[in-house]
Amino acid sequence: MHEAGKLLAQCHQTIAQMIRPGITTWEIDAFVDRFLAKHGAKPEQKGYRGYQYATCASVNDEVCHGFPRRKRLENGDIVTIDMVVNLHGALVDSAWTYAVGTLSDQAAHLLTVTKTALYKGIEQAVAGNRLGDIGHAIQQYVEAEGFSVVRDFTGHGIGPTIHEDPDVFHYGKPGKGLRLKEGMVFTIEPMVNVGAWQCKMDDNGWTARTADGTLSAQYEHTIAITKGGPLILTEQTR
Ligand code: MF3
Ligand code: CO
Repeated sequence: MHEAGKLLAQCHQTIAQMIRPGITTWEIDAFVDRFLAKHGAKPEQKGYRGYQYATCASVNDEVCHGFPRRKRLENGDIVTIDMVVNLHGALVDSAWTYAVGTLSDQAAHLLTVTKTALYKGIEQAVAGNRLGDIGHAIQQYVEAEGFSVVRDFTGHGIGPTIHEDPDVFHYGKPGKGLRLKEGMVFTIEPMVNVGAWQCKMDDNGWTARTADGTLSAQYEHTIAITKGGPLILTEQTR
């Protein structure tokens, strides 16, 4: 999984270089497809429950599971690229929100807060803590910043398949929920909205967007609970 994570991180780091006004999420998806093939890995999302693409690409008010498209990204857009890499049967999952050109102050703040929220959640992912400690840390911080945490989607265990137990909520009560043990591997992936947390589903049956039309961002890592604390399997060189 660590090797798969390094490959996934490389994808994100290359995408960070590719992102600019005028590029399409279709091109980014094609890059991920080719890059993984070249390294003997597979885009696990392709074919998952009928999903057709290597990546999810969610722009502006899209919360998650946006389809890669031929439409050009514009200056000021934000776009979340989410992917699951399968390297010889080891699966890892990571999403990252990118700024296209220059952002409004509000959009830039949303990205900072959402990324910080992810790392605040990861900090709580230590043996002996409970799942609620992770959710609480994320929710408390995000709401203090005036944004909201999406409730409709959770992080998840990951192993032979993408989505396994447990559900990892990004809100909750400290000291509640499953006790964390060494060796557990799961994702933490807060989606944060500028406005209300409610989402609505597009007619395509996949794409969720904010009900009130405000911006949404997401950062996701796959982490393992180890003796030494949380190990971020999909960490990028930052
Ligand atoms: N990577 C997504 C997650 O974080 C999974 C999306 S399922 C897909 O859970 F089919 F849309 F790819
Ligand atoms: Co995930």
